[in-house]
Amino acid sequence: NGRTPLIAGNWKMNLDHLQAVAFVQKLHWALKDAKHEDDSVEVAVFPPFTDLRTVQTLIDADKIPFAFGAQDLSTHDSGAYTGEISGAFLSKLQCGYVIIGHSERRQYHHETDEVVAAKVQAALRHGLVPVICVGETLEQREESGPTAVSVAQLEVALEGVPASADIVVAYEPVWAIGTGQVASPEQAQEVCAALRAVLADKLDADAAARTRILYGGSVKSSNVASFMREPDVDGALVGGASLVVDEFAAIIRYQK
Ligand code: G3H
Repeated sequence: NGRTPLIAGNWKMNLDHLQAVAFVQKLHWALKDAKHEDDSVEVAVFPPFTDLRTVQTLIDADKIPFAFGAQDLSTHDSGAYTGEISGAFLSKLQCGYVIIGHSERRQYHHETDEVVAAKVQAALRHGLVPVICVGETLEQREESGPTAVSVAQLEVALEGVPASADIVVAYEPVWAIGTGQVASPEQAQEVCAALRAVLADKLDADAAARTRILYGGSVKSSNVASFMREPDVDGALVGGASLVVDEFAAIIRYQK
């Protein structure tokens, strides 16, 4: 289908800037040893804000072929917003990506679909590729079926997004995050296909064909290949397993 698979590691609130150096170097070596230095899979890491400068310097100095990004950004570009981080700062640190609307932000920081949409606009204003996260809770799945919540969340997030925009979508069923209760490949495919139809509808057919849709939720080296075989799953957004060098390296090498 021409879409380069994306394996993304969301560190969440783990690894300080010193641990980040060791982690990125070890991951690089692990993949190098396996002669993985090709571009068949894109690798991206999402460290905490306080690690970004360190990770950027290391990746740059050692020419490490990983993309990186932040886990959130402000809806605003600058000003009196204590504690917030602007997309302008992230793009100056050469972040390529920014995760937006992760279920933990929606749940613990009360981010609404409208806030998520404003953050998508902020990312695009600063040349960052938003990784737009959507997904339903177990109660929502039981109430309204597998696709309704994710479809509605993505529809709002795409308000005002031009069809030419470079974006990534991540389907993360809340019930599968950090629980070990992984979705089946068929369940992931069903929702990812519905999300691709939203891309076609809200953007256009070309955007639907080129945009990568990731699955996230208890992805491990033992199950990643089963997701990647699905036609509408173009990668993984990995939490816990992205913090273990050998395990994350094995996930990246899923096809080898
Ligand atoms: O962003 C990553 C997801 O929340 C998945 O986390 O792999 O620990 O289940 P997990």
